[in-house]
Amino acid sequence: MSTFWSVWIIGLTSINLALIIWVLMANRKVAVDDQADPDDIKVTGHIYDGIEEYDNPLPKWWFQMFVITIVFTVVYLIIYPGMGGYKGLPIFDGKTWTSRGELARDQDIARASYVDSFGKYSDMTIEALAIDPKANKMGARLYSNNCAVCHGSDAGGNYGFPDLTDNDWLYGGSPEAIKHTLINGRQAQGMLAWGEVLGEEGVVNVAEYVMSLGGRDHDVAKAEAGKDVFATCAACHGADGKGSYAAGAPNLTDDIWLYGMGSITEPGATAKEIRQSIRNGRHGVMPAQKHKLRDDKIHLLTAYVYSLSLVEYSE
Ligand code: HEC
Ligand code: HEC
Repeated sequence: MSTFWSVWIIGLTSINLALIIWVLMANRKVAVDDQADPDDIKVTGHIYDGIEEYDNPLPKWWFQMFVITIVFTVVYLIIYPGMGGYKGLPIFDGKTWTSRGELARDQDIARASYVDSFGKYSDMTIEALAIDPKANKMGARLYSNNCAVCHGSDAGGNYGFPDLTDNDWLYGGSPEAIKHTLINGRQAQGMLAWGEVLGEEGVVNVAEYVMSLGGRDHDVAKAEAGKDVFATCAACHGADGKGSYAAGAPNLTDDIWLYGMGSITEPGATAKEIRQSIRNGRHGVMPAQKHKLRDDKIHLLTAYVYSLSLVEYSE
């Protein structure tokens, strides 16, 4: 505040205060009941239709209330900073009572509790955090806010979004692999649209072969024809079709399918869905979190994701 406004406000406040005190004192009179001579009753001199107005003082309680408010004002002015750059009396751990001071205090408290809640976990290993109930609770909260939209609120996955609880991994389930996934994201590479390359017959045949790998019902002749084609696929999915973490290529021999709603007769992925994957290709994208979440949060999330498979398999 400029000096002019400081002086202005100090002046106004002081004059006001002095005026109030003067008004109060000027009206302070002895009460009628206390007057020595009953005939000596003071009147204001106002007469309305023969009715005179007593010149009574303020009731005692009223007067005292005024005094209390004046005392409060003075105490307030002493404690609270403001007038003329006056800093106020330090009453909160040596700090003055300003909204800015209050904010600074709140920030100190928040920072302390932040270090309390996140900081101490940064030094713990993923394995240790995964079995720490409090860390898991915080991880779960971070998960709800950042991951549930895609992977589901129970982390059970959705069509195109992997289940994070089944201990079946595209990119690996070690703490390092999970953390890498979270920090940098993942982009499914190379599952091209094979429809044009193989033709519809080729797609059908190799799909039947994929079905045979999982021990499912299949057309033997078509699967036989598709086996040769699968040599192309083996580069990523492996000769046995069990997939590869390095390629992010899913295991095609189990009943866990990324791109499958399944049906009652064909849980996981239907033959149609498998053919679609092959014909049109798949390009799943896991967004990188490093620009969104701080290291300590990613650390906690990694532990949380890691713990989901531990729970699944320790039960
Ligand atoms: C926009 C949707 C989206 C969000 C948000 C998202 N993910 Fe993903 N995530 C995916 C997709 C899609 C994949 C699979 C990528 C692929 O197909 O290669 C994936 C893959 C993963 C994998 C690898 C799984 C495996 O089998 O190797 C992990 C772990 C993972 N996500 C964890 C998380 C966590 C933790 C969060 C929250 C911080 C998160 N994701 C947020 C879409 C998302
Ligand atoms: C260059 C590597 C690569 C090659 C070659 C490749 N794939 Fe894939 N495939 C992938 C990747 C990576 C994914 C996962 C896509 C995703 O996460 O979005 C995938 C996904 C699939 C899926 C879906 C799996 C699921 O869980 O839903 C099927 C089916 C599949 N591939 C079959 C094949 C067949 C058949 C061939 C050969 C014609 C083939 N792939 C060739 C990398 C490859």
